[in-house]
Order: sequence, then C-alpha cells, then structure tokens
Amino acid sequence: MSKLAIHGGKKAVPDGCIKTWPPINDVDRQYVMASLEQSNHAYGPNCAAFEKEFAAWNSNQFAITTNSGTAALHMGVAACGCGAGDEVLVTAYSWSSSATCILHANAIPVFVDIDFDTMNMDVSKIEAAITPRTKAIVAVHLHGLALDMDRLMRIARNHNLKVIEDCCQSHGATFNGKKVGTFGDCAAFSFNQNKCLCSGEGGMFVTNDEEILNKARMIWSFGETRSPSESRDYHAYALGWMYRNNDLTAAFGRSQLTRLTEYIAAQRSNASVLLRELNGVKGLILPTEPPKHGHNYYNFTSRIDSEVLGWKDHPAKLRELIMKALQAEGTQVGVWQQFILPAMTVFQAKNAFGKGSPWSLGGPVDYNPARFPVAQKHTDSHFGMTTPLRAPNGEEQAKRVAEGIRKVFENVGDLV
Ligand SMILES: Cc1ncc(COP(=O)(O)O)c(C=O)c1O
Repeated sequence: MSKLAIHGGKKAVPDGCIKTWPPINDVDRQYVMASLEQSNHAYGPNCAAFEKEFAAWNSNQFAITTNSGTAALHMGVAACGCGAGDEVLVTAYSWSSSATCILHANAIPVFVDIDFDTMNMDVSKIEAAITPRTKAIVAVHLHGLALDMDRLMRIARNHNLKVIEDCCQSHGATFNGKKVGTFGDCAAFSFNQNKCLCSGEGGMFVTNDEEILNKARMIWSFGETRSPSESRDYHAYALGWMYRNNDLTAAFGRSQLTRLTEYIAAQRSNASVLLRELNGVKGLILPTEPPKHGHNYYNFTSRIDSEVLGWKDHPAKLRELIMKALQAEGTQVGVWQQFILPAMTVFQAKNAFGKGSPWSLGGPVDYNPARFPVAQKHTDSHFGMTTPLRAPNGEEQAKRVAEGIRKVFENVGDLV
C-alpha cells in the first residue's frame, strides 16, 4: 500500500468513493416542482419564504435573497455608506470579490495581512491600517472559521467604522456560541455550487438594521424604493443594480436549508476524523479551531511545512509535487488561491473604472505584495478540500482521504 499511486501503486481513495455535492432527495424535487407549477418565476413566493426562513435560521431580523454572494456583499458595502474614494479594510487573502465588492461601490480596498494560524485577517493589524478616510471593514470568516468578533467589533466601534461580514463560506460558523452574520451591521452569504448551502448560484443579504435594509433593497432592484412584492412605480431613485433572485433557485435553496444544520454537523464530524487520523504527520500543518470558535470546515485547509521536510527550493514547487501525488491517490484536494489579493492585476493596475478610478478619488494606498508576507507564506504552502467533507460523505471517506494524505507525506522522499 505504501507505493504511491503516482508511481503505479493502489489509490488510497477508490474511484466513486467520494460522493458528489449536494445530496438531492424528494424534498428538493417537491420544492422545485411546486415552484415550476406556479406562475410567478421571478421574485415569486419561494423568494419571500426563503428570506424569512434563512433569517430565522441565522437569527437575523431581515434578509434579502440575491443572485450571488458578491451581489449581497456589494449591497452591504454601499448600504453602509461607502462611496467614492472611501477606504474599506479587507483581508489580503480571500476570494477576489471580498475585495472587488468594495470597488463596485467606487471605494478603495485597503488590505490587512492575515494571521497564519487562523488564515483570517490579523485583527491586531487593523488599527495600523485605519486612516481618516476609512469607512468600514469587510470581515471575511474564511474557510468557515469566524474572526475574533469581540476584538474586531470593539475596534470598529471605537473608530466609528461599519462592518460588513463576508459569510460566503461560513454558514453556521460561530463565535462565542453566536452565528456569524449577527455581529456586524450586515452580512452576505453565498449559495453557489460548492457552498455549505447550494442552490446552484445565489446569495442572501442579512441585517438587523432597517435603514441599511432599505438602502440595500434599493441597490438590489434597479434603484427602486419599493420591493418587487410591493406595488412598484418602476422609477430609479438612485443608482441600482439587478441583484434579485428567482423563484426556482429560491425553492432549491429552501429545500436545502431544511438540512443545513445536518450538513454542517457532517462537515464537523468528517473534519474531526481527518484531524484525528492526520495528527502528527511530519510536514503537515492542520487547521485549527481556537477556543470560543465553532468551525464549519467549509474548506479543510492545511499547510505544507517545507522546512520540516528538508526542502530548500521555493515552497510552492514542493506543493506542486505533493498535490500531484495527492490527486493521484484520489483525495480530491486542491490549491484554492494562487495569488494574494493585492497581487491581483486589478489592484496592481489600480484602474477598475478607467481614469484611475476609484484610486484617483482618494488618498494613496500601497499594494506592494511584500507588505503581506504572512498571506504570501500561506498562499505558497496551502492546499485544501471541500467535497470529501460534505454530506453524504462520512467516516469511511474521511479515513480514506486521511490515508492518502498520510501515505504521500510519509513517502515524500519518493517525489523529490
Ligand atoms: C469568501 C468569499 N466571498 C465571496 C464569494 C462570492 O460568492 P458568489 O460566488 O456567490 O458571488 C465567495 C465565493 O466563492 C467566497 O468564497
């Protein structure tokens, strides 16, 4: 069994062992068919019901169903009053739209380096990034681990900053026993294919603040002041977008929501098997769940400690060799991000809307990637996985994946 699959040995995870996501059952079929058989396919009855049910699930007062998590993020940034030339703080390592949602509001992202252990924005570095132009923080709970929201909210309130939580990966993750999306001024969730709640594409904007809700609703639907369920005058009172969801997607989202709590429990259980089976593997840094945090293990992300493995070249080169071997074992691991956010071309070029906008509207910001060494170290050494953690995969799959990872790390000498 120790002969690596990449060298012709037997795969640790046989083909077909890992089940696809999301599981579909008769409840999904009933919801989706009922949507098809009624006549309001735009903002229909499932949209309104999905908003109510998701708000109740997450303990929020208000929710607006959107066609993506990015739409909900943009609505949040703009509804919090961020506009031309304002600065908004965000982590240096995330999905691109955690930061481009700030550009969409014509505001300027200011990056903060990450904490290596949690992979989230380093809260101790936030205050140094605040200037008189700072208006808000996009607080990303990455990979399903919440930020320390006690510390972050204290800083935000001391400096009169709004907080938009990016919960696109963190459905059901908790801090101090409270679900993410309930700490800041508003929050965004994604229901894209691979997310903990999948409706194909889609998202949800949540808030407890009625003024922010109303502003977000205006951005969501053509700049109108009335929602599609009210009688509309089709008048653009302000600049708006078309971020509404449709009835079929909302129906699918509603049916999946009935099982979301179970799904998250399955992810946590599968992660605990991986953590147990991979404990002590030389050169492997496993994800952590600090006290007070409830991880949802959206993405089980580990790092390769190339020094411990005696590797002298660039860490990403060792990672490439290890990734190929892990994939050959059938483990379904992947590299999530090849670039830290400030290194992405849109930020390096500083020209989102032309004529240097929005940077030409504000003060200078420095996107030199060398200012974010922790994010870079993480980016060069990480790999993660999502589907093997998702229901209906269970202990059998988690053990086989762990076996594949252990096998590759124990035989890393055969790769180099
Ligand atoms: C952290 C984070 N923020 C935002 C998004 C954007 O969500 P969506 O793809 O639904 O627009 C994603 C999706 O991949 C994400 O992972």
